[in-house]
Amino acid sequence: MFISRLLTLLYVLYKIAFNILLVPYYLFKNSKLFIHHYLRNFVDGVINLQLSYGRHIESVDLVGLQALLGGPNPHLHLQFANQFGNINFQEGIAIAYIIQGFKPKALFEIGTFDGFSTYHLAKNSPPDAIVHTLNLPVDHSLSDYAHVYSLVEYHSDTETHERLKESEIGKLYKESDAAHKVVQHFGNSLEFDFSPFRGRIEFCFIDGGHSYHHLESDTRNAMDILAERGVIVWHDYNVQHRDIRRFLRALSLKHKLYHIEGTRLVIYLKPERTAPGKS
Ligand SMILES: C[S@@+](CC[C@H](N)C(=O)[O-])C[C@H]1O[C@@H](n2cnc3c(N)ncnc32)[C@H](O)[C@@H]1O
Repeated sequence: MFISRLLTLLYVLYKIAFNILLVPYYLFKNSKLFIHHYLRNFVDGVINLQLSYGRHIESVDLVGLQALLGGPNPHLHLQFANQFGNINFQEGIAIAYIIQGFKPKALFEIGTFDGFSTYHLAKNSPPDAIVHTLNLPVDHSLSDYAHVYSLVEYHSDTETHERLKESEIGKLYKESDAAHKVVQHFGNSLEFDFSPFRGRIEFCFIDGGHSYHHLESDTRNAMDILAERGVIVWHDYNVQHRDIRRFLRALSLKHKLYHIEGTRLVIYLKPERTAPGKS
């Protein structure tokens, strides 16, 4: 508490010194804009100061929240802190809810990485469910694709793939009590033989290569392996992933897709249906 107050005081002193030097300069340059900004900054500063001196909001994790609520156990099986390349916490929750609601017995994931999402697929599915997960072997370089596909997607894909060299494909699920539910496949999703799974998969998670070409191919295969009643979930629908955005928007002209609010997840349900209150 003392340190935080000391830091705040130093920050205020720094701000005062800064303003004493800069106020005359900006006032002279553009007085109207300066007064507007200065007033706004001043009000923000007062509010921030008030907040930093006031009570800090206590944080609570899911287990703590459950204890606080004392209500029904939501049966969320979430574990491990996510890192760059993984689904995030909200997405983990969304996936847990989808799987617990839908109860798929056969699941397929494209893009295992360290096994973070695989673990959540396995833990939230029924006890007799099997999760197939596919990843490019670690020694397989992504550099072959560099000249063909989107450069931005290529760079973030390369970074994730390179990280596997320090870790191991599926390390997290392998070390968990859900390991027996997972079948690891190694290969390139662009060349993998999906035919043994045709019409059998009830939940498919697409989070492998992020280029338009990968999305197109992985989605075609996911549609093919999907059972009569099934779900496909795509990851990374956001501004940063232009190929994914472009691909999914184009796909939404043909199929009913939903973006799960507060996440980068998009879902397709088979048979297709409309959410209550939406048209
Ligand atoms: C973003 S990570 C997956 C993250 C994981 N789903 C999670 O949330 O924990 C993408 C993974 O896809 C793999 N990958 C990239 N291109 C692939 C391809 N063509 N076939 C199979 N796996 C691929 C990469 O090696 C990387 O491990």
